[in-house]
Amino acid sequence: MALREILVVPHPVLKQVSKPVEAVDDDLRALMDDMLETMYAAPGIGLAAVQVGVPKRVIVMDLGRDEDDRQPRYYINPEIVWASDETAPYEEGCLSVPEYFDEVERPAKVKLRYLDYHGKAVEEDAEGLFAVCIQHEMDHLEGVLFIDHLSRLKREQAIKKVKKLTAA
Ligand code: NI
Repeated sequence: MALREILVVPHPVLKQVSKPVEAVDDDLRALMDDMLETMYAAPGIGLAAVQVGVPKRVIVMDLGRDEDDRQPRYYINPEIVWASDETAPYEEGCLSVPEYFDEVERPAKVKLRYLDYHGKAVEEDAEGLFAVCIQHEMDHLEGVLFIDHLSRLKREQAIKKVKKLTAA
């Protein structure tokens, strides 16, 4: 396993639409292992492959409480097959927009379909933080960041803040 560099705004690759994965093989699992290690080191709770410069439809996540409670999750070619009309606000952050947090409103519950680490098709219901996180990460696959859900003014402020941070 190896740590990968996490791209931050306004890196143009973050705006790319990620391509579907054609085969869940050892190369892909190696990428997911690297992504998970990179996410843990950051630290973060979710990471899309495009954030490490690989525009493939792959997401890793771990909503465990701490290092003693690791619950790695892998989502390949995820699709939202249902979303609730009910929405919920959550203060989101993103490893590609370091040290900026703001509230985003999303469907409170979703139903997902995806391939797991071994390429098996899975259907799963998500609510709470899981629903927030998977929708945030799936946005990355479309080249959308959580700050794209905010006003233009807030988005520009966030990018300015990150630029200042990374220039320091
Ligand atoms: Ni993010």
